[in-house]
Amino acid sequence: MKALVTGGAGFIGSHLVEALLARGDEVWVIDDLSTGRFENIVHLESHPHFHYVIDTILDERVVAEMTRKVDTVFHLAAAVGVAYIIDNPLKSLETNIRGTELVLQQANEGKKMVVVFSTSEIYGKANSQPCKETDDRILGTTTITRWGYSSSKAIDEFLSLAYHREKKLPVVIVRCFNTCGSRQTGQYGMVIPRFVKQALLDHPITIYGDGQQTRCFCDVSDVVEGVLGLVEEPAANGEVFNLGSDEETSIEALATRIKELTASESVIEYIPYEKAYEEGFEDMRRRVPDLTKIRETIGYEPQVSLQELLERVVAYFKK
Ligand SMILES: NC(=O)c1ccc[n+]([C@@H]2O[C@H](COP(=O)([O-])OP(=O)(O)OC[C@H]3O[C@@H](n4cnc5c(N)ncnc54)[C@H](O)[C@@H]3O)[C@@H](O)[C@H]2O)c1
Repeated sequence: MKALVTGGAGFIGSHLVEALLARGDEVWVIDDLSTGRFENIVHLESHPHFHYVIDTILDERVVAEMTRKVDTVFHLAAAVGVAYIIDNPLKSLETNIRGTELVLQQANEGKKMVVVFSTSEIYGKANSQPCKETDDRILGTTTITRWGYSSSKAIDEFLSLAYHREKKLPVVIVRCFNTCGSRQTGQYGMVIPRFVKQALLDHPITIYGDGQQTRCFCDVSDVVEGVLGLVEEPAANGEVFNLGSDEETSIEALATRIKELTASESVIEYIPYEKAYEEGFEDMRRRVPDLTKIRETIGYEPQVSLQELLERVVAYFKK
């Protein structure tokens, strides 16, 4: 395979790039390093099948040139992370909407397969859990920035499905749930790296809200396996899939577990959402993926337990 990975210097992107190279594929990366880091890919620089440009997907000429070289596009470049989106609402909408449209447009020129990375944020504050791909999306008002991110990713899905239906562009949409692992930074609101860093430094572990909200965390290696399985599966073309782990934990239990795992002396503190994010911030009490569709389509099964995932992240930050 010749693959373009947009956002390939990011957390998930860099793991995907490594997996593609390990399979013998040739890989091109485009990344503007807005939230990604060059050190995530620097070890690949001398690989004969690895190429990269530091540029934005908003540059049509560059995207056109790169999509011409490949047969598959993994589109991960996006504004990511609740905290980042709240601080950069305009840039986030531009990147996620205009950027994705450009990538799809250029991929369509040569009918190159596009794997579009969407998100569980799509489901909004839906109460019925686990979330199934066909479930309704329930969003709050437009004055709450978070729902702009959710909506921008929903537009990406609409655009992808429209290209598929009208232009016969091969697309696969993956809705990633919380994904974790090495190279993820806590800088933009990701909870596990933030807690692990706080615990290792014996700083207070700061829970946003009452900590009773639950999430499911998936190791990045399982996400990469799922994506590579879907891209090889003809029945996945034109379809939307949840991708993640369905092992559920409360955020409070997560903090306690990380504190124990790191033998930390940190105290656990609770910060109201309005203080952590913005006035009127809304959160969902539970978020659990229904994985039936991906299980039935490619036999997907996450391999890494939450305990193992946490051990990996702790080892990474210690190093
Ligand atoms: N990590 C998660 O838990 C999670 C959950 C749901 C969905 N996702 C999706 O997975 C994808 C990857 O996320 P991630 O967690 O690796 O985050 P990340 O921030 O590490 O990766 C995004 C990458 O895109 C790059 N980028 C941003 N704007 C760009 C632009 N205009 N041009 C070129 N590059 C640009 C960033 O520099 C970064 O390297 C995103 O599309 C995200 O929405 C991630």
